[in-house]
Amino acid sequence: MDNQIPREEGLDHSIALLKEGYNFILNRSQSMQSDIFETRILGKKAICMIGEEAAALFYDENKFQRNGAAPNRVVQTLFGKNSVQTLDGEEHRHRKEMLMSMMNPEEIEKLVEIVKMEWEHSIDQWAQMEQIVLYEEMKKLLCKAAFKWVGYPLHEDDVKVITKGIAAMFETPAVLGPTHWIGRSARNQIEKKIEGLIQEARNKQIMFSENTVLHKFAFYKDSNGNLMDGETVAVEVLNMLRPIVAIAIYMNFTVLALHNFPHEKEKLRNYSDYSQLFVQEVRRYYPFFPFVAAKVKTNFTWNGYKFEKGTLTLLDLYGTNHDPNIWGQPNEFKPERFARWKGSPFSFIPQGGGDYNNGHRCAGEWITIEVMKGSLDYLVKRLEYEIPEQDLSFNMDDIPSIPQSKIILKNVRRSL
Ligand code: HEM
Repeated sequence: MDNQIPREEGLDHSIALLKEGYNFILNRSQSMQSDIFETRILGKKAICMIGEEAAALFYDENKFQRNGAAPNRVVQTLFGKNSVQTLDGEEHRHRKEMLMSMMNPEEIEKLVEIVKMEWEHSIDQWAQMEQIVLYEEMKKLLCKAAFKWVGYPLHEDDVKVITKGIAAMFETPAVLGPTHWIGRSARNQIEKKIEGLIQEARNKQIMFSENTVLHKFAFYKDSNGNLMDGETVAVEVLNMLRPIVAIAIYMNFTVLALHNFPHEKEKLRNYSDYSQLFVQEVRRYYPFFPFVAAKVKTNFTWNGYKFEKGTLTLLDLYGTNHDPNIWGQPNEFKPERFARWKGSPFSFIPQGGGDYNNGHRCAGEWITIEVMKGSLDYLVKRLEYEIPEQDLSFNMDDIPSIPQSKIILKNVRRSL
């Protein structure tokens, strides 16, 4: 028997989506008491879903496709044209294989070591300063590390401008007005630079070290056996650089968690395995990506609900990570819950769900966790700092959400 998907009345709810941000789907799911509902966004019908069962459905590539699902403003800033995020089927699998080829333990370890070196340099600089804005400093630190890791260390003079450009790509997709255009123009400029480097490497004018992202991607053949066009290579190199810099957002929330839950520090100092649980809880508890979007690939029925080909469908990532059916007391910060977590690919999805190689799950999830753990070690064991009076609140309608003060630290110094 067919069921009617619960429907939100009204012509369009795009403004409510901007106003309610991370809570848009969660609020409606709770008031309609349903894990699925229909609404209208940008003048079109959209299905919203939340929870583990919904995530398993959403990641079934026979039922949903990515091509044509993301709004142009997101493609022009966050993803880049023809990026892996917009591909489906065999073409997606082949491209993802290239990205995942960098996600082995040796490469991850290499990146973490570079990040640690950058922490060492940064602490020396911070110790000379009265105070630092952690978010700004972390973006620079991670940007330097990311460029070294991909095989093109930045000149110190370029760090500020390049960091600003890369950050604009993840800070502006959901912002209206001129700020959004800063993200677009930054992407165009940096893509062009990387494209130039790729061309020079292919013409043998410069050489990248083997086993680096730049070397591998420059000479990777597409599924037809041809080198990828330079623009696409640049887009995928940025798909590695940009999100490494974005880990700065999680580092801000990590410091906030240490500040708001000070008893956690003792556990982190005393139990070596606790940092994994802590980092997982930071990624579950705090907002980052609100939802992911796909389009229904072909008509089908699920739990009696009809899905029509072409319908925009949003899966709530933040809401699923706060679903009381999965997480007891979801609004409490409790890292220990991850000692009991069974590891379902659909219940804990801050960086998407499903399979890494065959689906769209975040290629850099392992990198994110390890870079956070390496940095957490500095924050808890190797650094001392004070957090002066400031506005540490964060808004659920800013996407991405970052504490208002971006976290000011005073008297940063090495622990004795
Ligand atoms: C995809 C979140 C870090 C590379 C994604 C997706 C999310 C996400 C939500 C989409 C999943 C989907 O479409 O179903 C995050 C967050 C990060 C992060 C919150 C924290 C900073 C990274 C890092 C890298 C990375 C460090 C690489 C070094 C990618 C790539 C995709 C992706 C290439 C596209 C995968 C595909 O479409 O197959 N990420 N990510 N991300 N992420 Fe991340």
